[in-house]
Amino acid sequence: MIEIEDLHNKQTFTKEYIAEMLSLSGEKRKMMLKEAGEFHVKQLGKKVFFRGLIEFSNYCTKDCYYCGIRKDNRDINRYDIDDEAILNAARFAHENRYGSLVLQSGERNDSMFTERIAKLLRGIKKITNGELGITISLGEQTREIYKEWFEAGAHRYLLRIESSDEELYYKIHPRDEKHNFQTRLNCLHTLKELGYQTGTGVMIGLPFQTYEHLANDLLFMKELDIDMVGMGPFIEHHDTPLYKFKEQLWPLQRRFEVSLNMIAALRFVMPDINIAAATALQAIDPMGREKALQVGANIIMPNITPTVNRKNYLLYENKPCTDEGADDCTNCLKIRIEMSGREIGFSEWGDSKHYKKPLSIPPKVGRK
Ligand code: 5AD
Ligand code: FES
Repeated sequence: MIEIEDLHNKQTFTKEYIAEMLSLSGEKRKMMLKEAGEFHVKQLGKKVFFRGLIEFSNYCTKDCYYCGIRKDNRDINRYDIDDEAILNAARFAHENRYGSLVLQSGERNDSMFTERIAKLLRGIKKITNGELGITISLGEQTREIYKEWFEAGAHRYLLRIESSDEELYYKIHPRDEKHNFQTRLNCLHTLKELGYQTGTGVMIGLPFQTYEHLANDLLFMKELDIDMVGMGPFIEHHDTPLYKFKEQLWPLQRRFEVSLNMIAALRFVMPDINIAAATALQAIDPMGREKALQVGANIIMPNITPTVNRKNYLLYENKPCTDEGADDCTNCLKIRIEMSGREIGFSEWGDSKHYKKPLSIPPKVGRK
């Protein structure tokens, strides 16, 4: 039985206890969310940090069953934004006092791609005087490549595990050498060893997924001692294999509610990590991200991808802000965040307070 008043001081969370938190509804759920919001402010204060998101290419070599930009989807326009436009987006983030940037794309491992990334990272550092924090989210790579990118200036890496349950993992990915659960786990360990602030996450409301799976996902994050988390509702995309399970999914509203429950529960389980208010929340509820900020999230990722390309980075349906320009997003977000009683940490990196540098990693210049 969950006693809301106990949550603040609770030290150990069992799978059963978390599963019960996740399945709460009605009045008790509201109380838990409110408590999580208060706990969050007590732990980390009211500041929310911006990460300007550039989805610079939707070319992808993978075939995840849930994703709209998977390799086998022939029904989309593939794009690759040129370096100059990426650097301009970085300049925009810097000038608008976003503390950090996230570079994301479909997964590629060829040397043309990996070398280009290293060059871009150095370029971004240079034009922003090392003042902009850089997160990258470019999938599974070798240790050498991760190291090269770290040395070129990236200091955070996002690699969602998608589901920490191996059996469920293979229900949402092909079972082949390109989609290997163990490889993904190894990548997460490597990223941590190399000194990245490491982020992971899962989708919520996948076909076949239970509250127990989700509770285990949170325990997985705790055990991996992760620094940052981005997780949001699964939203079916008509051009993907998982679409056929549409009828078996939780209703969208429930997926949304459980996503907020996940954020709130994780805030209690890992009080000092960074948790992102995932964009997918906003695909269900126009105020989805702001609601997440009130129950434990402290990071928001405004999309600063040049607007012409946004319509082609549809990982899922009903993706928000595909029409807006970056300026509109900044203004709109500022108002929304202030309305939710939070403040924006302008020009601050907003590093995860949980992060502890491995002993062998030298400090980065320009850290704020
Ligand atoms: N619904 C929700 N999230 C999705 N992602 C990919 N496809 C979907 C979908 N259909 C998420 C994955 C991936 C991130 C970039 O987007 O978790 O890691
Ligand atoms: Fe993009 Fe509001 S957040 S327009």
